[in-house]
Amino acid sequence: MAQAVSVAHQAGAPDQYGLVGHPVKHSWSPFIHGMFAKSAAQNLVYRLFDVGPDDFRRETLRLMTSGVRGLNVTLPHKQAAAELVNELTPRAARAQAVNTIAFFEGSSLLGDNTDGVGLTADLERNMALELGDKRVLILGAGGAARGVVGPLLERELRSLTVANRTPYKARKIAEEFGDLGNIAGCTFAELDGPPYDLIVNATSASLQGVMPELPHGLVDEHTVCYDMAYGRGDTPFTLWARALNARTVTKGWGMLVEQAAESFLLWRGIRPSTQAVLEALASNDKSPSE
Ligand code: ATR
Repeated sequence: MAQAVSVAHQAGAPDQYGLVGHPVKHSWSPFIHGMFAKSAAQNLVYRLFDVGPDDFRRETLRLMTSGVRGLNVTLPHKQAAAELVNELTPRAARAQAVNTIAFFEGSSLLGDNTDGVGLTADLERNMALELGDKRVLILGAGGAARGVVGPLLERELRSLTVANRTPYKARKIAEEFGDLGNIAGCTFAELDGPPYDLIVNATSASLQGVMPELPHGLVDEHTVCYDMAYGRGDTPFTLWARALNARTVTKGWGMLVEQAAESFLLWRGIRPSTQAVLEALASNDKSPSE
């Protein structure tokens, strides 16, 4: 559960929030938090901060002292953020990855991870998918994968396989989360059938316009394929899944919106309705790119 922090509404200058990552210029988070703020009548601004790995710590602390109240953290900083904060929520401590930081008086930083609850909310609430007893495959073992493993295992999956280009990271995740359920880590080449019920792409390969090479037999007409990456049109992963006739092929817009709503809850003590934002982003994805 997110730790709801109630924030007194200020009549004057808007409270400042933002996203730290590299790159961030294509982020939809300012749009999403702008719609949330309007619908929940909250006086805030949300900005993008493009910060490279060498500057993450210094820049985050500078933003805090300049009055920023909270930050979302995206790649490649989620694990560095877990090391930076003073306190972690239980789910962020499990993940050892942070996508949301709340700043408090006295220079205290609380790190949370809303990625997992964002993904499960999208799968279960928006897509009406039942996760219990399903065979699930996660591609990737970075900060994005770490955030979703715990909440997925809590659904009592039949099995969760984490496959990664660098296999020791996948095996490490399997060791760390082994007490929560049936989880294994492996290389892409070690994967085999029968086809999975759900495949989640948590690699950043789509951002580079590539698709990791995977063995045959992982997808059939019952498989749901979910790319955590988003943007207009197909990604290399969604093209791969479509070519294999997956049952449902989707991108991470819903997860993006749901995790943002959980961050908003941590910062403002209100969970905004996500429906209008989901509809706005879906219609944007269908419109021709400029
Ligand atoms: P994030 O916070 O998005 O997870 P990250 O921690 O940098 O970002 O992790 C990126 C993930 O994408 C990793 O699992 C990475 O694999 P490695 O651990 O081997 O680096 C994976 N990844 C990135 N580019 C990839 C590519 N071209 N093919 C396959 N996997 C890739």
